[in-house]
Amino acid sequence: MIYDVKDISLSEKGKLRIEWAQREMPVLSLIKEEFKINNTLKNYNIGCCLHVTTETANLMITLKEGGANVFLCASNPLSTQDDVAASLVKDYGISVFAIRGEDRDTYYDHLNKVLDNKPNITMDDGGDLVSTIMKERNDVLPGIIGGTEETTTGVIRFKSMEKEGILKYPIIAVNDAMTKHFFDNRYGTGQSTLDGIIRATNVLLSGKSFVVSGYGWCGKGVAMRARGMGAKVIVTEVDSIKAIEATMDGFQVMKMEDASKIGDIFVTVTGNINVLREEHFNNMKDGAIIANSGHFNVEIDINALEKLSSSKRIVRDSIEEYTLKNNKKIYLLGEGRLINLAAAEGHPASVMDMSFANQALSAEYLSKEGKKLENKVYSVPINIDRRIANLKLQSMGITIDKLTKEQEEYLTSWQIGT
Ligand code: ADE
Repeated sequence: MIYDVKDISLSEKGKLRIEWAQREMPVLSLIKEEFKINNTLKNYNIGCCLHVTTETANLMITLKEGGANVFLCASNPLSTQDDVAASLVKDYGISVFAIRGEDRDTYYDHLNKVLDNKPNITMDDGGDLVSTIMKERNDVLPGIIGGTEETTTGVIRFKSMEKEGILKYPIIAVNDAMTKHFFDNRYGTGQSTLDGIIRATNVLLSGKSFVVSGYGWCGKGVAMRARGMGAKVIVTEVDSIKAIEATMDGFQVMKMEDASKIGDIFVTVTGNINVLREEHFNNMKDGAIIANSGHFNVEIDINALEKLSSSKRIVRDSIEEYTLKNNKKIYLLGEGRLINLAAAEGHPASVMDMSFANQALSAEYLSKEGKKLENKVYSVPINIDRRIANLKLQSMGITIDKLTKEQEEYLTSWQIGT
């Protein structure tokens, strides 16, 4: 078996942590048992570009138990958990190509290693696997029946490929499943972003001015949890409807131009570029902390920060201190990469349980229906979404009401009014 991980001797710790995460992933575990019995993915090569975490490990094991040959690389150079990568290779026989802190060339070399194994299904988080196929690896296209995409950023990229008519195979937008983005993006990003900031800095959030840029599902989660920790939360937005929503949720909403003068901590979660830039760095208070929780490290204009600075140094794990020419200090966390994975462990397993149940069942769906699909971005079928919600509720010991016959009839009738 070929692989490239940091240190295979880390596997023991990785295995224990993978098993720990599994305890919080009952839905995925159930799917694993089904896949095993039915050999659901027999002979499929699945190429995955995902954050190499304990939760991803449980997804990889599920696919393998279903009979698939699984190949995994990282979807971010800083998110790999080296002990997990080692255990997947040593204990589970899965080919992993991922080393935490790998440089750009190694990152793409690892992506290409996954593609060398001729996947029939691709599983992306951010779209790098598909865009590499489109740009340089057309050779693998004939064997591919479809792919899945985990995150908002990737889905946006694929929808624009579809619009330009250049998408080469069908993609299931796992992100858009209700049992994914309502929970993973909101509660997962909410908790893990604060976890990352706290692990990196150990600052007290209570009483701080905490600026959240972007009020999508991820931004909502971060703002909600920061408020829960006692921070004074400010939201910046470009979308008027989201801005009203943030206001009515009780947050202060203002332009970044103004927020940048009063914030102590800034988090970008917009999916867009240069959200924090030169004009904002110039406004910031001495000691401002800046972090990103969006998929790519483009939301903070690090080049501009470099240009404004006379020096920089690492002052703690995951913290770079930039000294500006006017002597003011700005602290950049996790090199501007996803702070929840760069400085913490990503979303907790319980929420990834639903996201990865969607991934596993979407892979099964592609194996059965992929050949009939067009080169478009598809939603996760609603029956899969509902099934995952039901299984998750069951695992939590929660039962819910059913419509009575009379209620069902009422909902399909129009006659009864005032
Ligand atoms: N994205 C965010 N958190 C994650 C996790 N724990 N595992 C995989 N992908 C993630």
